[in-house]
Amino acid sequence: MIKSVRKAQKVQGTISLPGDKSISHRAMLLNSISDGSATVSNFCQGDDRKAMLNCLTGLGINIQKIQTDDSQHEDDTFLVKGQGIHNLSNPEKILDAGNSGTTFRLVSGLLATQPFESTITGDNSLQNRPMDRIINPLRKMGAQITGANNSSFAPIKIYGGNLSGIEYIMPIASAQVKSCIMIAGLKASGATTIIQPEFSRDHTERMLKAMGADITIDNLSIKIKPSNLSALDILVPGDISGAAFWMVLASCHSNASIILKKVGLNPSRTGVIEALRMMGANIKLSNINEEAGEPYGDIKIQSSDLNGIIIEGELIPKVIDEIPILSLAACFANGKTIIKDAGELRVKESDRISATVDGLSKLGADIKESSDGIIINGTKKLIGARVDSFDDHRIAMTMGIAGLLSSGVTEINRADANMISYPDFWQQLSNLTIKPANNVS
Ligand code: S3P
Repeated sequence: MIKSVRKAQKVQGTISLPGDKSISHRAMLLNSISDGSATVSNFCQGDDRKAMLNCLTGLGINIQKIQTDDSQHEDDTFLVKGQGIHNLSNPEKILDAGNSGTTFRLVSGLLATQPFESTITGDNSLQNRPMDRIINPLRKMGAQITGANNSSFAPIKIYGGNLSGIEYIMPIASAQVKSCIMIAGLKASGATTIIQPEFSRDHTERMLKAMGADITIDNLSIKIKPSNLSALDILVPGDISGAAFWMVLASCHSNASIILKKVGLNPSRTGVIEALRMMGANIKLSNINEEAGEPYGDIKIQSSDLNGIIIEGELIPKVIDEIPILSLAACFANGKTIIKDAGELRVKESDRISATVDGLSKLGADIKESSDGIIINGTKKLIGARVDSFDDHRIAMTMGIAGLLSSGVTEINRADANMISYPDFWQQLSNLTIKPANNVS
């Protein structure tokens, strides 16, 4: 699908975000292996949702969509009947994680605990993403794992059970990897200790604690002992990674005011707010609350005058999914923005360093890539052109926002990649913008 987007004259409105993808995946998986039943509402949307549900139902978990009185959550409330970690069924088919790295890596941790052989795979993009990062620790714990053609890529075959706790020093900061090991650690003999090089999103730690797991956290080290989990009702907060698109739009547009309702504000995810505030953005938080150990609140963003900054080091894991859209913000800032220490972006759903640079340079940005980041000289002007999503949802949506800020018409090839995580994105974009005439087609 090709989407045409024209410059917006004014940006104004209130948006409810889909449920946070990271929290949704954990809520569904951990409740599936808990003792008892729980509801998960505001569950994430899009194809990544299907990926997790298919894998868990493939393992015999009973998950059903349920009706609620709340019209806002009609399509996103599920009842999960937890079966405990010992009672999963040997899947009849290969489990398919689609495009979802989180599904693949978290479910692999679960498969490693089960005394049967199973295979998990994904789409083309996922088959090219590194899996040695989970294969190595799971093998150390005692799982037998074989990658495609003896490689460390999907599809992988796992024969699990009989795991032993390990001490694992993680070579990279990755929430997917640490979560995979923690899930395996729930059924290993003895304690499993994970030492992280830097903090990454800690939704799994928070949820495990709230479900009664024996988990202790000491700075960068996480220790988990074999545990049974208690089912936990979870209302998933709005996805801050989806909110980031609107935050950047309002910050860069000269006539903008946007309110984002009930967005997750876990400090391990709010790097995008930190980075935009460092740039001078006008962001106000209100109605802060907490649900199942996760803070959330409303965010109001208005037009501002941004300045270039350096984004590096410990901030990177906190903005890892927001770097494409922050690169767009840098195009509308005064001076230079340098993003470094972000080599992980090359192994996401696409190589996001080159995809971002490719799209924004086609729109006339002064931007270049380095081995582990992006350097942008803000020119405060982009000119519409034909760009591509590289079948990556975050690139498609970044280019959509770029179109609202660029003169002329921006055409986005393979724009339907948004279906992975944010099906309503194009509709919300259209509702929010006041334009000369019909700015989305
Ligand atoms: C995620 C962790 C991050 C992030 C991904 C979601 C998670 O990946 O990029 O979109 O839910 O744990 P890494 O763990 O590979 O950094």
